[in-house]
Amino acid sequence: MITSAKICVLGLGYIGLPTSAIMAAKGFQVLGIDVNPKVVETINNGRIHITEPDLDLFVRAAVQSGRLRASLTPEAADVFIIAVPTPFKEGKKPEMSFVEQATQAICPVLQPGNLVILESTSPPQTCKKIIGPILEKAGFRPGKDIFVAHCPERVLPGQIMREVVENDRVIGGLTPESAEKAREIYGTFVTGQIHITDSTTAEMVKLVENSFRDVNIAFANELSIICETLNLNVWELIKLANLHPRVSILRPGPGVGGHCIAVDPWFIVDACPQEARLIKTARIVNDSKPDFVVTRIKQAAERFKKPVIGIFGLSYKQDIDDLRESPALKIAHRVSEEKLGQMYVCEPFIKSHADFELMEAEKLLRLADIIVLLVPHRQFKNFDRELLKPKIVIDTCGIW
Ligand SMILES: NC(=O)c1ccc[n+]([C@@H]2O[C@H](COP(=O)([O-])OP(=O)(O)OC[C@H]3O[C@@H](n4cnc5c(N)ncnc54)[C@H](O)[C@@H]3O)[C@@H](O)[C@H]2O)c1
Repeated sequence: MITSAKICVLGLGYIGLPTSAIMAAKGFQVLGIDVNPKVVETINNGRIHITEPDLDLFVRAAVQSGRLRASLTPEAADVFIIAVPTPFKEGKKPEMSFVEQATQAICPVLQPGNLVILESTSPPQTCKKIIGPILEKAGFRPGKDIFVAHCPERVLPGQIMREVVENDRVIGGLTPESAEKAREIYGTFVTGQIHITDSTTAEMVKLVENSFRDVNIAFANELSIICETLNLNVWELIKLANLHPRVSILRPGPGVGGHCIAVDPWFIVDACPQEARLIKTARIVNDSKPDFVVTRIKQAAERFKKPVIGIFGLSYKQDIDDLRESPALKIAHRVSEEKLGQMYVCEPFIKSHADFELMEAEKLLRLADIIVLLVPHRQFKNFDRELLKPKIVIDTCGIW
């Protein structure tokens, strides 16, 4: 039985922890590794350190059953799954040190025949040019005595427990045998289809998916800026254009955030700087949108002596608590740094923030002169329109 395989998952965040808990539920013996001792302790107590619906139930059950345990150091296993962060660093270059460290950390316990699966979103040729050489240096022959595959994640935060199981998966092997070994593992818990390819194509598939979104959002964001100049309503424009049977323009917003869409296109730009012109421009357009919103807030603030500015939403998208690369966060910081007025923030998905005073929605709605909607959280959609009427409203998401 394949589920008797011992699994070691490196990185117990939004991807590694759900994957560990689901594999434990399927009967695998799972050892989760994290460099953060607090994370290890929390999980070993059957609790979780991140917010994701139903994850707590899965982790508690997995730990109680004895099939999930966390540790700071890897142990011998049959399969190693790497799910560590891959952000970018200075100059928008991919920060691969976490992947390198995780790969180095497993070398002392690796045995011939083991399978190493990279789940982290990674630049093209990471399996070939980063993981392969580290394994080689440790005395292995990657693709021959250690199998290496990339299986990118494309789950939606908030739906991770369902999507880890139901989504189709692309698996790219350093060799065809590596891909087949990884298919056997994912086949035990994935109900979506599994598509096999080579490792570099799999790496690019994930990056291309997010670049596609980024380019299309950039088009919508550029339209929203053009419409300001032409004094047009961008929402009406897009609604009417989308009546064309082959046109489907996305919705503009305050910018693009998160650790995926705002980051991954840069991995392609870094790999092919001469060729990836449109992808790079889209990134620049989306990254400039927060400045545009700040300018609008500044113009509104100039109409008051001491304006009270209400910022609604800090997360990078609706109905989650994740603030990574959030354009809303950037805008709030700029409004605060430039002292455009007395600023309060309403973010129902977090309890506190080191830099901002949080306020409950209705109180802020009554208090603020300028209402800036940055995230279309469900709860914001039902605001009493009468309360909004006397205010200056900057609705970057078009929900009101
Ligand atoms: N979160 C998502 O929705 C999502 C979706 C698709 C792909 N991804 C990709 O998955 C990867 C992981 O993302 P995440 O959201 O789970 O990150 P995360 O920050 O939530 O978790 C990563 C964890 O890895 C740990 N870590 C760092 N270095 C380590 C090391 N050397 N060994 C062991 N643990 C280490 C960190 O302490 C942290 O707990 C990234 O490449 C990301 O781009 C994430």
